Amino acid sequence: MGAGKSTAARELGGVDADALIESAAGKPIAEIFREEGEAAFRALEQQTIVLALGGGAVSSPAVRDALADTLTIWLDVDVDTCWERVRGSDRPLAQDEAAFRRLYEGRRGLYAGVADVVAKDVHDVVLAVAGVMVERGALRRLGELVPGDGAVALVSDPQVAGIHGMDAQLALGSMLTETHELPPGEEAKTLAAVDRLWQELRLDRGGMIVALGGGCTTDAAGFVAATHLRGIAWTPVPTSLVAQVDAAIGGKTAIDLPQGKNLVGAFHWPARTVVDPALLETLPEPQRLEGMAEVVKTGLLAGEALWELPDDELVRRCAAFKAAVCLRDPHERGERAILNLGHTFAHALETAAGYEGLTHGRAVALGLLAALRLSGRDTEVVEEVLRPEPARVDRERAWQAMRRDKKARDGEIRLVLLGPDGPQHGVSLPEADVRRELDRLIA
Ligand SMILES: NC(=O)c1ccc[n+]([C@@H]2O[C@H](COP(=O)([O-])OP(=O)(O)OC[C@H]3O[C@@H](n4cnc5c(N)ncnc54)[C@H](O)[C@@H]3O)[C@@H](O)[C@H]2O)c1
Ligand SMILES: [Zn+2]
Repeated sequence: MGAGKSTAARELGGVDADALIESAAGKPIAEIFREEGEAAFRALEQQTIVLALGGGAVSSPAVRDALADTLTIWLDVDVDTCWERVRGSDRPLAQDEAAFRRLYEGRRGLYAGVADVVAKDVHDVVLAVAGVMVERGALRRLGELVPGDGAVALVSDPQVAGIHGMDAQLALGSMLTETHELPPGEEAKTLAAVDRLWQELRLDRGGMIVALGGGCTTDAAGFVAATHLRGIAWTPVPTSLVAQVDAAIGGKTAIDLPQGKNLVGAFHWPARTVVDPALLETLPEPQRLEGMAEVVKTGLLAGEALWELPDDELVRRCAAFKAAVCLRDPHERGERAILNLGHTFAHALETAAGYEGLTHGRAVALGLLAALRLSGRDTEVVEEVLRPEPARVDRERAWQAMRRDKKARDGEIRLVLLGPDGPQHGVSLPEADVRRELDRLIA
């Protein structure tokens, strides 16, 4: 009582059952259909609900039995906090403090007995439901953390393989049956690179791809996992800040075409996502700044200064924010669009720059300035944390790119803005205002 179960259930209240099923089963729905049939899927569907179980429910052996096949999350909050939250309420078991404390101590053993995961707050609950674990040192426990007992193929990029590949291989031990390298950077997200990987992979349908690297590695390896034998399970192990707070969360995988970035891809929720913030210690400073742009974006959306937190907490909170949005809207039919805050401007600038001389993070920093100004907000945070500098691109090219943006409908530019009650997507503003703000971002 008072741990925050109802808050956590509300945070997950709008969760899409398909995403929950995929995350719990560790495989895509198409695969469940193929391997176990529609009846099995319907059975899973009926079981897939998020339930905030009353604090005393586990006293019953029948309830404990029922929880055996269920992802059970113990929201373990200290007794003082719980008591502060419930004292003075009319809940019958919260009338006497000494009795409340005895009840709390008495039940801890029961909770420990049924819990698959111990969560300390609502963010941990979201991460557990999404199958994401954030833990310093997790890379060294990779063998235990990768679900299932099938064969594992490790996919990495040359730089990350050189720094962390050996630790990953040692941790995977005898599960590891093959290792592969994708080319560095955006080169990984090409048809040629994934074609090579498709042809090299020996895994059967019970196998698992472990993708160790930045967002380019996880996007490309995830896409291969989504398509190899019509889809096998995968576990991203993101190593860059961009990938830990953004790219490896939410199940979007993609490669690029000459016509544009991320134009071919699939939604393919990972069986598990293993995030080890200690890996960020070897990340070069410019790459860190790339990630900070997404961190600031996430903090602005969440309405909290997440960029001020120490690394482990910063990663945990950003990953949980994105996971919650994606669980509620896994296929981007609505709310998920808020994650594009600042990105309509950013993509226009990147296109105008021909993807040279202007990184995504630098473009997002500029895009956030424009989004904040159009939202009538202060831009100080972006100036201080990201220090954006005006882009040297052609104004007319940037404007034309902005109008062609894939989120533009009926010729109107749709934006994500921060309203008084939180983020809003699909906002259209007078063209002159949008163009004025775009112009201000250009040197
Ligand atoms: N799928 C999504 O939802 C999503 C979201 C955001 C971004 N993305 C994609 O992510 C990609 C960008 O990701 P990125 O910035 O991580 O690029 P990246 O994968 O190229 O990594 C950046 C560089 O950092 C190096 N690196 C990574 N981790 C390291 C570590 N721990 N130590 C030392 N070096 C390390 C890599 O070798 C690489 O050189 C883009 O293609 C973007 O489209 C996808
Ligand atoms: Zn981005």
